[in-house]
Amino acid sequence: MTIPNTNSMLSFSCMVSAAIVILGRTCSCLHFTFPSFNPGNRDDFSFSPGSAISNNSLQITPNAGNMSHRSGRVVYARETLKLWNSKRTALTSFRTEFVLNILPQNGTAGEGMAFMLTNNPSLPSDSSGQWLGICNSQRDGAKTNRVVAVEFDTRQSYADEFDGNHFGFDFNSIKSFRQYPLSNQSIILASGSDVWVSMAYNGTTGLFGVDLVQHSTIGGQLKSSGSLIVNLSHYLADDIYLVFAGSTGDFTQLNQIKSWNFTTVENDATVGIRVGIKVFLAIAALVIFSTCLVGVFFMWRRLTRQRRLANRNLEKMIDAHGPVKFKLRELRRATANFSPTRKLGRGGSGTVYLGHINRMNLEVAVKRVSMGNADSNRGEQEFVAEVNTISKLSHRNLVKLIGWCHEGSELLLVYEYFPMGSLDKLLYASARESNSSSEISALELTWDRRYKIICGVASALDYLHHGSSKRVLHRDVKPSNVMLDEDYNARVGDFGLARVIQYDGITHHSTQAVAGTRGYMAYECFFTGRASLDTDVYAFGVFIMEVVSGRSPSSAVKYEYMHDSDHRGMEDYSSDGHPLTMHIVDWTWSLYGEGKALHAADRLLDGEFEQTQVDCAVRLALACCHPNPRERPSIRTVVQVLIDGAPVPEPPVNKPAFVWPPGGNQREIELPDVGLLFTGGARQQNSFCSMTSTSLTAR
Ligand SMILES: *[C@@H]1O[C@H](CO)[C@@H](O)[C@H](O)[C@H]1NC(C)=O
Ligand SMILES: *[C@@H]1O[C@H](CO)[C@@H](O)[C@H](O)[C@H]1NC(C)=O
Ligand SMILES: *[C@@H]1O[C@H](CO)[C@@H](O)[C@H](O)[C@H]1NC(C)=O
Ligand SMILES: *[C@@H]1O[C@H](CO)[C@@H](O)[C@H](O)[C@H]1NC(C)=O
Ligand SMILES: *[C@@H]1O[C@H](CO)[C@@H](O)[C@H](O)[C@H]1NC(C)=O
Ligand SMILES: *[C@@H]1O[C@H](CO)[C@@H](O)[C@H](O)[C@H]1NC(C)=O
Ligand SMILES: *[C@@H]1O[C@H](CO)[C@@H](O)[C@H](O)[C@H]1NC(C)=O
Repeated sequence: MTIPNTNSMLSFSCMVSAAIVILGRTCSCLHFTFPSFNPGNRDDFSFSPGSAISNNSLQITPNAGNMSHRSGRVVYARETLKLWNSKRTALTSFRTEFVLNILPQNGTAGEGMAFMLTNNPSLPSDSSGQWLGICNSQRDGAKTNRVVAVEFDTRQSYADEFDGNHFGFDFNSIKSFRQYPLSNQSIILASGSDVWVSMAYNGTTGLFGVDLVQHSTIGGQLKSSGSLIVNLSHYLADDIYLVFAGSTGDFTQLNQIKSWNFTTVENDATVGIRVGIKVFLAIAALVIFSTCLVGVFFMWRRLTRQRRLANRNLEKMIDAHGPVKFKLRELRRATANFSPTRKLGRGGSGTVYLGHINRMNLEVAVKRVSMGNADSNRGEQEFVAEVNTISKLSHRNLVKLIGWCHEGSELLLVYEYFPMGSLDKLLYASARESNSSSEISALELTWDRRYKIICGVASALDYLHHGSSKRVLHRDVKPSNVMLDEDYNARVGDFGLARVIQYDGITHHSTQAVAGTRGYMAYECFFTGRASLDTDVYAFGVFIMEVVSGRSPSSAVKYEYMHDSDHRGMEDYSSDGHPLTMHIVDWTWSLYGEGKALHAADRLLDGEFEQTQVDCAVRLALACCHPNPRERPSIRTVVQVLIDGAPVPEPPVNKPAFVWPPGGNQREIELPDVGLLFTGGARQQNSFCSMTSTSLTAR
């Protein structure tokens, strides 16, 4: 379905609904009620000369002045009665009741009155006397009269009439089609007492019934009734006026209507049709509603189409062709030309910027890798192959690599963006105590969340080491490389790239290369100069200690520690009162050796942690940081302990000595404090990598 169809569909349904409204309003209904009449009702009627509302009644013939030989009509003027019902399936059924009061003026009554249905509301001339205002001598019986009347005759006018006190049905003629005498029922029309008349017409059957009731002077009700089958359509056309007519002759009377009501009645057939109309309306409403929904849906689709396409394309591209290769121009635009205001952070390998890729409508983290000297020896194909490998890795605790760009000396990597940033920002918020908002965010790192982060990172490393077809070393496990999503799940970033990119101008793309961060590097690294599964495990051990304690590996453990009365046993380290810098591994091992493993927990936690979990984490961390790589558990074992509840390792109470080489000709090497080494004079990482064992033993 195309978009232009939406508009035509909408306008079509508008037309349909308008038609429904018009059809729904077509109705043969007519209702009115006059419990009595007052001058205010004048506009509801039209009166022939001499007729009026007077004495709370309709005066059909004059009630004052010359009353003899007069005729008159009072016509309901507001609306006409429809001959046919709403759906023209039958004639309109109706019911009407009125109270008439005929008051003779000279003892003898004359002549009578009638209730009429007619298409000719005006009073015929010369209709006084016997004509009752219905017709006259010339037009008597004419079809054009279009009159159906029920007459209430108070005087015998011609030979065929029973008497001067009857009612009858008249069709276009004063000669009644059927007459009903009332005298043998003791009903006297012209007695000046009220007569209740009710009439009903069944448009389906044609049954026309009339009932008369008069209260007897001696109590009780006097009744009479008459009915016949008549097809009103044989006499009447549409737009029927409801009329009272009457006349006087030589003898006069007041022809009065004291109250009147009228209502059309929906018969069964019509009710069925009305139900049908309602069902039709409901269905139509439903159709319109769904049309609108469809229209809105298509508009929404059109609005979101670009985005959906972009997302789908992105996934497709990465799945089918690996990560997206971006143009430098596009990434410049996305990051406002690497504007300092877009800077998210700076790591050892480069600066990270917040970017917005317009064609994907996607927020990304763009890492601009410091290349130092452009590595002209490196072929782009090799680079792309490695980026592809990395981008194919997919784990819920890994940051997704979306794409890359390599133009000239610029190397850019485009990652998923996590607004909460990296773990170190939260973890060391307490170090920036002046900033109160940071304190609050430090408190966000509850023990539960810390433990979940440790488990997440372990799980991600397990996937890198053992989960994918290609073994991938992370080479730089540390809190600043762990992003947090909005649920505080760890998302490990920067993995595997050590082989791809350069650190500080030194190429490390060979497997012999060392990469990583001071403080997280295992002892053997100084001898082998190479990363391995074991060095990742060591770094992870340091990571656990950091997350548990909230202290950075090499510098945070010093002065504050010796003044901590809880840790008196460690005072030896600061006998001279000078700030003491300990590496976090030594510090933790000391606590563990004293049986105070729980003291390693961050004081910001204020003791709110699961003791067995902290104990487990400390033991695991120490096991991972065992000086001898062969003694370290694999990351798979770590995951089994953390997640599957395998037995927690029992590290030795005292930190074992580093033995090198691990296999054959072993000799114990007393290592200097690693933290001191790293924070001391020797700052150049490459110098460590070229250190020999002899230089390390010197202390
Ligand atoms: C008006 O009505 C009252 C009672 O309804 C009656 O007594 C009186 O005679 C009537 N007047 C005329 C002029 O008909
Ligand atoms: C009363 O009016 C009728 C009809 O207009 C007329 O024929 C008759 O002569 C009038 N009577 C009197 C006394 O004016
Ligand atoms: C009018 O209609 C009501 C019921 O709808 C009925 O009770 C009343 O008697 C009717 N007649 C008159 C003359 O008002
Ligand atoms: C009828 O009565 C009226 C007064 O109500 C009177 O003026 C008139 O002459 C009388 N007519 C006859 C024929 O008695
Ligand atoms: C009254 O008279 C008419 C005509 O003769 C007759 O049809 C009807 O049955 C009579 N009604 C009663 C109650 O006697
Ligand atoms: C009256 O006549 C019309 C047409 O002649 C017919 O359609 C209708 O059904 C008739 N109604 C009754 C009640 O007989
Ligand atoms: C008309 O008569 C039919 C058949 O007796 C009946 O079903 C229907 O309800 C009547 N309609 C009215 C409005 O009384």
